[in-house]
Amino acid sequence: MEIRPYQDQDKAGLLALWEEIFPAGSPHNDPQTSLENKLRVDRDLLFVALIDDVVIGSVMGGYDGHRGWIYSLAVSPPLRRQGIASALMHTIEEKIKSLGCLKLNLQVIASNDKVIDLYEELGFSVEDRISMGKKLY
Ligand SMILES: CC(C)(COP(=O)(O)OP(=O)(O)OC[C@H]1O[C@@H](n2cnc3c(N)ncnc32)[C@H](O)[C@@H]1OP(=O)(O)O)[C@@H](O)C(=O)NCCC(=O)NCCS
Repeated sequence: MEIRPYQDQDKAGLLALWEEIFPAGSPHNDPQTSLENKLRVDRDLLFVALIDDVVIGSVMGGYDGHRGWIYSLAVSPPLRRQGIASALMHTIEEKIKSLGCLKLNLQVIASNDKVIDLYEELGFSVEDRISMGKKLY
């Protein structure tokens, strides 16, 4: 298994992974749009995990000069519980830290609360915040 920054040759594999794991419910989650937008802004914060050149995992980061954010952590279902997500998280954390970022945030959809165990193992804790969002389309 290899983890490295996204390259153009990963496009079909990454879109297939995201389409399987994050079915688009709205335009801001559409895999193709998400990928095109990320490639325009900080594309070096998009990492993939590969086995034999096949994309089997992903993580996307963001850093706006104040906080770092984690998005799109995903691992192909047959390959879960082998530490691949943890390795992706270590990679993006080190990359964002190297930019001078002091604090990482991430959001978990309430119905997906089983992944909280993973993030707690990686040093994240649930914070007393109310998450708000606004669609710009
Ligand atoms: C969440 C996800 C990325 C985890 O990938 P993974 O490669 O299986 O994670 P890891 O193997 O690194 O897990 C490390 C540890 O986290 C915990 N963990 C991971 N997945 C878990 C689950 N579904 N339930 C409970 N604990 C879990 C376990 O403690 C695990 O260690 P263990 O296997 O020794 O018990 C994967 O399940 C996935 O793609 N899910 C769908 C997308 C998603 O929900 N992404 C997160 C959005 S916030």
